[in-house]
Amino acid sequence: MATALVTGGAGYIGSHAVLVLLERGWDVVVVDNYSNSCEEPLRRIEAMTAKSIKRYQADIRDQSALAQIFAAHSIDVVFHFAGWKAVGESTEKPLDYYQNNVGGTLALLDVMRKHDVFKLIFSSSATVYGDPDSVPINEQAPTRTTNPYGASKLAVENILTDIASWDTRWSFAILRYFNPVGAHESGMIGEDPNGIPNNLLPYIAQVAVGKLPQLQVFGDDYDTPDGTGVRDYIHVMDLVEGHVDALQVISQRPGMMTVNLGTGQGYSVLEMVKAFEQVSGKPVPYRVGPRRAGDIATCYADPRLAKTILGWSAERDLSAMIRDTWRWQQKNPSGYLGN
Ligand code: NAD
Ligand code: WQD
Repeated sequence: MATALVTGGAGYIGSHAVLVLLERGWDVVVVDNYSNSCEEPLRRIEAMTAKSIKRYQADIRDQSALAQIFAAHSIDVVFHFAGWKAVGESTEKPLDYYQNNVGGTLALLDVMRKHDVFKLIFSSSATVYGDPDSVPINEQAPTRTTNPYGASKLAVENILTDIASWDTRWSFAILRYFNPVGAHESGMIGEDPNGIPNNLLPYIAQVAVGKLPQLQVFGDDYDTPDGTGVRDYIHVMDLVEGHVDALQVISQRPGMMTVNLGTGQGYSVLEMVKAFEQVSGKPVPYRVGPRRAGDIATCYADPRLAKTILGWSAERDLSAMIRDTWRWQQKNPSGYLGN
């Protein structure tokens, strides 16, 4: 049986990937330092699948810890989710973001190479497109970043692309996520933000469940149909299925690929509020405030390359994204450790 190492496997997207990989017959080894997560989702996944997850609390920057993990398991591929992702925090701690996101990836690649593991799927972000010249955004669009988080993602992309162009042993899939939302349909695992959520859907969910009084809409004077920001929300289960498809392709064809994972459909903040009210049956009070620094008006993917190369396209619609977010939120009103 093949073995996948999942870095950041206790986090939001990584935990969903772990579940899907186990269901598809993979052995899974997780390395996570729990800097933005906890062990609980892994325990729940074990209960849901009746399978065990080998897990290590370790920092991917710690090469000797990583080397022990690679020595203990015959790893075939690495799904690399570990990293920090808070845009605001990255502007306060830029060096920490480079150390963790870039330094962590370099340490991981070095240990992989020493153990003859050359396949890696990397979590990148539509943030590398910055404020796009036009939408939908395809993979040829210019990259530009406006904060250290985005810059750290782009730096890793550039490093991987360059390495693959010189050392043909490597196979990389760089996946540029648009806005991942939703949860596994069981409601057992989902997104568990620390403190007050930065992202729209977790914030709306906490308003609907009564934890937060109202949503603040960050500006209604954008050049969009209703003036609020438009984004390409993608169900986390669709997203992780795209990773499995990417793995199939790089396993058969060495080299590298850079692919958008989005639906190609944009929704505004107010459309998200209305859709959430409809699906949950709860009011989502909001008030319009000023724009958030660094935000852009509109961002959605051209998802055709993923269809062509991976045979993948998103299948779950907005109501599924919201239904699953709402189920997770209701079952876990205070997140993993609040119950
Ligand atoms: P998350 O914070 O829930 O998960 C990341 C996990 O990595 C956490 O469990 C954290 O504890 C762990 N981690 C961080 N640094 C580590 C280190 N040095 N060593 C070991 N573990 C470490 O975030 P997520 O939403 O699941 O995102 C996963 C990846 O996808 C990240 O790389 C993120 O930048 C990227 N991404 C996320 C989004 C999004 O909106 N969620 C969008 C685009 C890209
Ligand atoms: C969505 C829309 C806000 C909160 C961020 C990162 C990006 C990527 C995904 C990792 C925008 C509006 C939000 C609120 C609001 N992450 N909003 N009130 O900004 O598209 O992307 O997460 O790679 O790098 O920047 O997502 O969910 O924060 O915002 O009105 O309380 O909701 O202005 O239009 P964003 P988001």
